[in-house]
Amino acid sequence: MSEVLEGVQVVDQVATGGEVELDGLSKKYGTVQAVREVSLSIRRGEFLAILGPSGAGKTTLLNMLTGFEKPTSGAIRIDGRDVARLAPHKRGIGVVFQHYALFKHMTVAQNVAFPLRMRRMSPREQRSHIQHALELVKLEDFATRFPDQLSGGQQQRVALARAIVFRPPLLLMDEPLGALDKRLREHMRVEIKRLQRNLGATVIYVTHDQGEALTMADRVAVMNDGAVEQLGTPDDLYERPASAFVADFVGETNFFQGRTVLDADGRVRVVLDGDRTGHRRDVDNAESLKADCGVEVGVRPEQVSLLPVEGTDGPDVVGKVCEVLYEGATALHVVETAIGNVNARLSLKNLRETRWAVGDQVAVHWDAHAARGYHVADRNSSPSS
Ligand SMILES: Nc1ncnc2c1ncn2[C@@H]1O[C@H](COP(=O)(O)OP(=O)(O)OP(=O)(O)O)[C@@H](O)[C@H]1O
Ligand SMILES: [Mg+2]
Repeated sequence: MSEVLEGVQVVDQVATGGEVELDGLSKKYGTVQAVREVSLSIRRGEFLAILGPSGAGKTTLLNMLTGFEKPTSGAIRIDGRDVARLAPHKRGIGVVFQHYALFKHMTVAQNVAFPLRMRRMSPREQRSHIQHALELVKLEDFATRFPDQLSGGQQQRVALARAIVFRPPLLLMDEPLGALDKRLREHMRVEIKRLQRNLGATVIYVTHDQGEALTMADRVAVMNDGAVEQLGTPDDLYERPASAFVADFVGETNFFQGRTVLDADGRVRVVLDGDRTGHRRDVDNAESLKADCGVEVGVRPEQVSLLPVEGTDGPDVVGKVCEVLYEGATALHVVETAIGNVNARLSLKNLRETRWAVGDQVAVHWDAHAARGYHVADRNSSPSS
């Protein structure tokens, strides 16, 4: 049976399944703890991105799912079944790697046929599966070409077709767009999302590109040093980072050093180092902070506004604009202040009346809800990419 969805010929949706559960999954290579105690439940049909810097353990985690690596401890269940003893090709998983890993001496059709031959499918059945898979990635006219006669994006689509040709309920992708240029990457994001929706497959997608993770995923797991540091929807992650690491890795953040104090009203507030106003500032997550501790306060550059100094009352820090970087729709203003340099990303639309230039004195302002405090000891490492 086939149906037309959004003008695309779609084969039968994948068989039911694709639910994944990781339970205390760990992997040690000698003394290197590559993955530590990762527990995750991934729903059927969900698109989960695993985001993290180089060396965070993303590939190791995927390799344990596919069966290429054996966990040191913990369990993996796919559709309720413990897969520990199951060979990779029996796990019903389609895999796409960063480098297409196509067989150079085989045509596109032969490459795509490979998983079907492994599964001993009859030639007739193979032909219809290959046809459908190539239609899905819009390469039906390229079946007889060899990989070196294709562009990078087309090669990556062949790799995708090969991963979906046997209609796996679960697709794992490890930096599948890493080798492509920016434009093609953005185009392929849309293609992969469309494909996933049409197939109804569960996707686990590894990337160190936050833009990719935020735009494509239903939920994102941020990995740092082998562990999942935060699991949440893209807006959760962006608006309520659970740690300084996440605030730093996902989007941009200004960090200001300070100390927490317990105010008479029972609320924890923060005094920033160098702030001559001595103002006790509110932060959005005050209830999760302890009093009398070193903290970093994180504020996104787009949450900072720059105001005229005249009429500034108490809390706003005054400083001097030292750089203005034009970005198109926005301009990044760097302001030197006593609490450190402050980045303010101002939308040019809102700048029609007041334009700031290098050397201008400005008052730096943000709303209390835009600031989050992080205990200093909680930042266990900084991102390396
Ligand atoms: N076969 C191995 N033997 C020893 N150490 C390994 C092995 N594979 C990975 N590691 C180590 O485990 C850690 C996690 O590596 P992994 O490849 O999972 O990171 P990653 O998040 O995929 O990084 P990248 O973004 O660079 O691909 C790293 O410190 C790495 O050096
Ligand atoms: Mg990797």
